[in-house]
Amino acid sequence: MTPDATGETPADAAARASAEFRADVLHGLAQTPKRIPSKYFYDARGSQLFEEICAQPEYYLTRTELAILEENAAAIASAIGPRALLVEYGSGAGIKTRLLLDALDQPVGYVPVEISRSALDASIENLSEEFPEVDMLPVSADFTRPVDLPAPDQAARRTVVFFPGSTLGNFEQREAIGLLRTMAIEMGRQGAALVGIDLQKDPAILEAAYNDAAGVTREFTLNLLTRINRELQADFQLHEFEHGARYNAQAGRIETHVVSRIDQVVAIGAHRFAFAAGEAMLVEYSCKYAPEDFAAMAARAGLRVVRSWSDSRRWFAVQMLERA
Ligand code: AVI
Repeated sequence: MTPDATGETPADAAARASAEFRADVLHGLAQTPKRIPSKYFYDARGSQLFEEICAQPEYYLTRTELAILEENAAAIASAIGPRALLVEYGSGAGIKTRLLLDALDQPVGYVPVEISRSALDASIENLSEEFPEVDMLPVSADFTRPVDLPAPDQAARRTVVFFPGSTLGNFEQREAIGLLRTMAIEMGRQGAALVGIDLQKDPAILEAAYNDAAGVTREFTLNLLTRINRELQADFQLHEFEHGARYNAQAGRIETHVVSRIDQVVAIGAHRFAFAAGEAMLVEYSCKYAPEDFAAMAARAGLRVVRSWSDSRRWFAVQMLERA
């Protein structure tokens, strides 16, 4: 197989990802309380289930952000200005990316940054047909680490990092500030970032969003165990675990756990992990922000909020950041 610019072949990259997954799971299960990073939700089935979550009536985030972008596309495009290089963290190609590329004045390039090559290829395939004048420059990389951005054919007036979906909320505060700092470096002096954040609201609305009546979020959470069973030769008995998502008001976040129904021992290869009945393993934080707390967090990364667009209920916000 052909190596990429770093000299790593796709097979090398897959082997490295698999070794990291194993190390993170074994490390996380040895902690008290046990925990597994939420980024491992997204195998093919997990990504499909996440799409289904976005369509659930209780999960207001996606449709609220989309409505904000639709209603304010012209204002956002004018705040960004002409000839921007749009950099998106995570696989784009969704309706939000299209909306933005469509509204922008002569965007010179689009750079999705995403580990999965298949997701990248899929995103670029459709977009390049729709936006033939925009240079498509996919980068296969982990966006939480600094990336060397490719240069588009036409010089960009500014670089704009697009990070929608409240994905920033899946990072703990320290990591989120680190990610905002990485953004500040990548956007450069004249750059900007557009970040979607979920806002604090009635806990009942929040908890309903993460405990949908159709049980899709439950299936999404438990799919993590299916993935571990398949990829790491483990023997989680799925029916002996439950999904639990609660709002922690003090921390301002939904905390999702996998809860053991009984006393049990799980094998992962040669390793054994004991779970007590009722024991909760943390699998995700989804932080909900007060606008002033988000602004304070951005300030710690050397950024300031220059514009903010929200919905009439103030449930979600798209924040535009520039260097302070
Ligand atoms: C991707 N991320 C912003 C979602 C969230 O709301 O935290 C993931 C998710 N987890 C459960 N439902 C949705």
